[in-house]
Amino acid sequence: MNRIYIFTGKGGVGKSSVAAAHAYKSAESGKKTLLVSTDMAHNLGDIFECEISHEKVTVRENLDIYEIDPAYVCENDFAEIIKYAKKLLSDTGDITIQDIGIFPGTEELFSLLKIAEIYKSGEYERIIVDCAPTGETLSLLKFPELLSWYMEKLFPIGKVGVRVLAPISKSAFKVEMPNKHAMNDIEKIYAKLMELENLLKDRNITSVRIVSVPEKMVVEETKRNYMYMNLYNFNVDGIYINRILPEDIGNDFFDKWIELQKEYRTVLKETFAGLPIYEIPWYDEELKGIANIKRLAEDVLKDDTVFESKAVTGRESFAKVGGDYLLKVFMPCADKADLNLYQAATDVVIKAGNFKRNIPLPNTLLNMSIKKADYTDGYLNILFTKE
Ligand SMILES: Nc1ncnc2c1ncn2[C@@H]1O[C@H](COP(=O)(O)OP(=O)(O)OP(=O)(O)O)[C@@H](O)[C@H]1O
Ligand SMILES: [Mg+2]
Repeated sequence: MNRIYIFTGKGGVGKSSVAAAHAYKSAESGKKTLLVSTDMAHNLGDIFECEISHEKVTVRENLDIYEIDPAYVCENDFAEIIKYAKKLLSDTGDITIQDIGIFPGTEELFSLLKIAEIYKSGEYERIIVDCAPTGETLSLLKFPELLSWYMEKLFPIGKVGVRVLAPISKSAFKVEMPNKHAMNDIEKIYAKLMELENLLKDRNITSVRIVSVPEKMVVEETKRNYMYMNLYNFNVDGIYINRILPEDIGNDFFDKWIELQKEYRTVLKETFAGLPIYEIPWYDEELKGIANIKRLAEDVLKDDTVFESKAVTGRESFAKVGGDYLLKVFMPCADKADLNLYQAATDVVIKAGNFKRNIPLPNTLLNMSIKKADYTDGYLNILFTKE
């Protein structure tokens, strides 16, 4: 099945370089591949040292690159949606198209819709997405869900009735309930958003890969990123630790740095135990041009397994149970007698024999404590309650 790989991570950690190396490797192995950037500050053209336009550009056999310009895509590919939206607004009341700006990321949404459209066309076996730094990517990825949530609340879509919501929407949002005609348009947009959300969350289609470096701040952000990705049920199935210093530099200045890097590499490996982890050396030059990308691909992405998805469905989940929260962690093959867990500053730490795993907790759980835990059917269930 054709797949989508989304590369995310803190600013400057090496997302574009790592994504480019995957794209190179994929194309070399004969798969028709598209490397696409949703970052407004594009740099794929720099990496591949070529001129990029508004459209896809072929840079090698089997490899196209594409820097999406959301405004251009919006005008050229989604004119119909815009037409719906405009008509909808004039049909529904006094909201103007500018008011849609109350939802952050409206423009970027078109990048995702475009990627979904390309995926559906079946033209590429692999679509590799180079994203903007974490924060923007998270809001971008949860956007289809957020928007369809709003649409469900505001309009009588599916089983959610207008009955309850109409009075609220009318007074608070100044939206007249749409007429039947406009309703069809709403349903079309809603269907597109649902389709996009399903595509991004389908573990058989989309992989999310997080790029990190062995430094305190980045490690912290990587954990948070992972936690949120899980919270929103995205399929994270690979971690990259970039910029690892060689141990034989032979210069005292770096000794301390090498030690620190070792420490944070261990933290990353403990936190993401069970996920494939790829370590990338710090090279002596910028990763620009095919030769450097090829070098990275050959050093780190040695075999084709980097494109496999080793994800386990429902690896971990948080659910509200009354006033408490239940954290369910998929831990197949664990020995119950060997299991131990405790709560540390911002994480819950699970130990299984010599095996330790930190799971970052969402903010809501930070002022709660563990009430009880049990292990059944391969799941560790941890109940948190207010102190
Ligand atoms: N392992 C490495 N060795 C040497 N240079 C590297 C390495 N990884 C990345 N770089 C260089 O660091 C810079 C940032 O890398 P890159 O553009 O891939 O990061 P990014 O995460 O995409 O950044 P942004 O958040 O700005 O999009 C680039 O100049 C790149 O060539
Ligand atoms: Mg980048």
